[in-house]
Amino acid sequence: MSPTPSNATSPSAAVTQKFTRAPKAELHVHIEGTLEPELIFALAQRNGVTLPYASVEALRDAYAFTDLQSFLDIYYAGASVLQTAEDFHDVTAAYVERARADGVVHAEIFFDPQTHTVRGISLDTMLAGMERALAQAEQRDGFSSRLILSFLRHLSEDDALETYQAALPLFDRYPHRLTGVGLDSSELGHPPSKFARVFALARERGLKLVAHAGEEGPPAYIHEALDILQVHRIDHGVRSTEDPALITRLARDQIALTVCPLSNTKLKVFGDMREHTLKQMLDAGVAVTVNSDDPAYFGGYVNANYAAVAQALNLNDDELYRIIRNGFEASFIDETQRATLIARLDAHWQVA
Ligand code: HPA
Ligand code: ZN
Repeated sequence: MSPTPSNATSPSAAVTQKFTRAPKAELHVHIEGTLEPELIFALAQRNGVTLPYASVEALRDAYAFTDLQSFLDIYYAGASVLQTAEDFHDVTAAYVERARADGVVHAEIFFDPQTHTVRGISLDTMLAGMERALAQAEQRDGFSSRLILSFLRHLSEDDALETYQAALPLFDRYPHRLTGVGLDSSELGHPPSKFARVFALARERGLKLVAHAGEEGPPAYIHEALDILQVHRIDHGVRSTEDPALITRLARDQIALTVCPLSNTKLKVFGDMREHTLKQMLDAGVAVTVNSDDPAYFGGYVNANYAAVAQALNLNDDELYRIIRNGFEASFIDETQRATLIARLDAHWQVA
């Protein structure tokens, strides 16, 4: 029954034996990016939306990306099927079910309100649907979650400010769930500094702050996100290795990075997973986490992301433990819940 020494130390064995069932946090997932092609077609039919694709297969075939923008064009088109509270409920419930199968026990989920308000869908509608699914998951399965309202950086700061003002009643109504703001969409040419005022308002309100930075953009964008927006975590951040002083800073201040390996290879940030900077950052003491970003588009949920990067970078058991623990350390939860979740991880790890 006991594994051979080579099995015991190989990353794939570690992944299959411990990771698949280990309790995990997922801190970087866009709800719109969890829309599987089958659900896109089902919602399109329910809402009378005509899609420019003949079939689920034709849509899936279009998922051949060359960079971030080529993905975003398809991702925003797919999100157009989300119209009613029921739609937002259904996509959220489907994500929770799939994430739970990978051991996720706590998720911090982005949504892009401007993608929907531009089509006349209200923030009330989005929140009502997502909250119903998340409250049910919490009560039924003990699945804990937060929502992070993410501004689209290719739009103006005034547009973000308008969105923020419109969301104020929702921050009041869902204080347990809607706890932060983020920044996503086309990075190059849209530095964090463009959103200084709206992040200052969110900071004054005591919201948690995150921003995508250093995915396609330079390390300078990560410095800006830290210095100007004063974010608590960086989403992606994989280009930070180009700036040794930045790596030192991230490690010293224990700024967590929400890394998404399959996203990075699908969007050609790295030509091959073996070029991924995750291990370099981990070795330097940076608090890296592993997440799925837009799993319906990038070919895998959180376990597939762990497996791909563990295999390519030869991560050992201790490194995998550190990454998963970093996820709980970096979660926007209270200290009691953090201690409980880490104890669950440790109990699993010792017997697995
Ligand atoms: N980067 C920027 N914007 C996004 C992403 C991403 O990886 N996914 C969804 N919106
Ligand atoms: Zn993202």
